[in-house]
Amino acid sequence: MALPRRLTSNAIRTRKGARFPVVTAYDAPFGRCAEAAGFDVVLVGDSLGMVVLGYESTNQVTLDDMCRHAGAVARGTERAHVMVDMPFGSYEASDEHAITSAVALVRSGASSVKLEGGTSVAPRIAAIARAGIPVVAHIGLLPQTAALASGFRRQTDRRALLADARAVQDAGAFSVVLEMVDPEGAAETTAMLSIPTIGIGAGIACDGQVLVMHDVLGLYPHVPSFAKRYAELATDATTALRAFAEDVRAGTFPIGPESAREPASALYPTIARGPEV
Ligand code: KIV
Repeated sequence: MALPRRLTSNAIRTRKGARFPVVTAYDAPFGRCAEAAGFDVVLVGDSLGMVVLGYESTNQVTLDDMCRHAGAVARGTERAHVMVDMPFGSYEASDEHAITSAVALVRSGASSVKLEGGTSVAPRIAAIARAGIPVVAHIGLLPQTAALASGFRRQTDRRALLADARAVQDAGAFSVVLEMVDPEGAAETTAMLSIPTIGIGAGIACDGQVLVMHDVLGLYPHVPSFAKRYAELATDATTALRAFAEDVRAGTFPIGPESAREPASALYPTIARGPEV
């Protein structure tokens, strides 16, 4: 029997206490970078809406958007587990609708799906899991509905947090994201659950930690306080593009007519497949 090519949800479920990193990715090149950097779990988050598509919140992101970007990340990676967010409007109406949406994401390349909510979405989690699709829960701050109602505040209701955590585990989630939860609450939740927690702005006690790639790389101007920037790629990209524009204006690019006579495979080594011209 062939082994699964990608890290499975069952393997992630055993990572209790293992301190594993997760990062978002939205396209093939950055999926490839994440995998090359050693990430074996990547999340195609609906933060896509803000950091890539330029929306103000995640609410504008559609199922088609998520399918397209899930596919790109899946094509850019080989062994990584690709978690994919179910966007706003793709799972609320009914169990049937949620399963149909989850199936579309899996067909596009998702290894598992993630949806926001605790006790209120536990039936959806159970329905999707019963359909054979691994589910990640997301509790604490819920950006899809916070954008419409309560705003982006740290979650401090410990009883609600623990009840949500228990409900999503009982419903069959194999892991749970804790977003903007107070660190003590996250520690208590992590100790209580048998499935791994993945924290974002939730302190050090979570089993895994996730950040938005564009925050890590300095590609998005509005970085949340809990994120850490490890690079300034927007600045580097602007510098490189300015240098190219200046070369064109100064007549120093292209260097000479001979540069256009190189074989296609040398110009585009990873995509040229046909006979060289
Ligand atoms: O959409 C996203 O990127 C997320 C992470 C912030 C956990 O859900």
